Amino acid sequence: MTMTPASSTPFPDGFLWGASTAAHQIEGNNTNSDWWHKEHSGTPHIKEPSLDAADSYHRWREDMDLMAVLGFTDYRFSIEWARIEPAPGHFSRAALAHYRRMVEGAFERGLRPMVTLHHFTVPRWFEERGGWTADGAADLFARYVRACAPVLNQGVRHVCTINEPNMIAVMAGAAKNGDGGFPPAGLPTPDAETTEAIIEAHRAATAAVKEIDATINTGWTIANQVYQAVDGAEEATAAYRHPREDVFIEAARADDWIGVQSYTRTRIGPDGPIPAPEDAERTLTQWEYYPSAVGHALRHTAEIAPGVPLVVTENGIATADDDRRLDYYAGALDEVAAAIEDGVDVQGYLAWSLLDNYEWGSYEPTFGLVAFDPETFARTPKPSAAWLGGFGRTRTLPRLPRTP
Ligand code: BGC
Repeated sequence: MTMTPASSTPFPDGFLWGASTAAHQIEGNNTNSDWWHKEHSGTPHIKEPSLDAADSYHRWREDMDLMAVLGFTDYRFSIEWARIEPAPGHFSRAALAHYRRMVEGAFERGLRPMVTLHHFTVPRWFEERGGWTADGAADLFARYVRACAPVLNQGVRHVCTINEPNMIAVMAGAAKNGDGGFPPAGLPTPDAETTEAIIEAHRAATAAVKEIDATINTGWTIANQVYQAVDGAEEATAAYRHPREDVFIEAARADDWIGVQSYTRTRIGPDGPIPAPEDAERTLTQWEYYPSAVGHALRHTAEIAPGVPLVVTENGIATADDDRRLDYYAGALDEVAAAIEDGVDVQGYLAWSLLDNYEWGSYEPTFGLVAFDPETFARTPKPSAAWLGGFGRTRTLPRLPRTP
């Protein structure tokens, strides 16, 4: 475990330092969403329903208080379309007021809010009319975004339109081609129609945000699997990666920033993805323990979209052992610092996740810096939370000791 950094790298000016969450994963009782419905209709791969989650819909003040006390200065959270537009064209003033209070509450605590407009969940009515590939989907999304003006026009500087569009396309591909299961290594083939539709929705949402306030920085956050070619499989790797990742980075070349989200790596040989070796350390999601992932992800994104500022919007580890979490973050931050020193324009780092949360089908993989009691909802910060938050006070990134 590396608690004391060997040296440090100053934050670039204006650097975002915080943690991320997503509404459905922490709020609880998101009953009007497609996911709630999936959770209660016997969908394979869903082990348990989200139910109350961390009750953050009511306890967001406590969560933000904690972030500020820990030393963080930025909080990425998502607002829930299913609550804001419970029926087509009917916008809930109460839900909008709720999210507006969250934005105001963040500023009151010295936290800058980054608002995600869509993080995997949609209103049930939107899913029932055919989801992203149905006629008019992008316009409906843009209409929802325009309705969010009272939330976004409160000084929000960063808006993420869509979280992990590439995973949305991959999940649509998996659903079309079978039972929605994932292969032992790599990702299912993305659905090309969904890719096109989601890029259109991103463009429409970006325009809608700019109508609200042209100075808001808009972008989207892309899952980066850190594809690594082995045995000379460079071409196969590039071909495998393009529809799963690069096409979404290319679509962001005119954006104000790109969100980089990484956890592990995927090695590709001439015959496709190669599972991690039997003896590799694995996390609770069964992903290979690989803290260097974020450095590779940043450098790759910068190569595909040169000149576009990058923000690490998710990075972390599912583990019950907080020492491994500390070790993971020490390795990851060292990579971020090295990328900055090499001139990569990294404008922020937001850990995944503030809280243990509903990991899309199960509460077992715990990514949180903060644990919560499922009965009382009492929050308990883990040692990693204080360690990570503390760099918000020194405004530096820790470096690992170098072996000569
Ligand atoms: C998602 C999060 C998820 C995390 C860990 C990302 O794919 O944006 O919602 O919890 O990774 O799996």
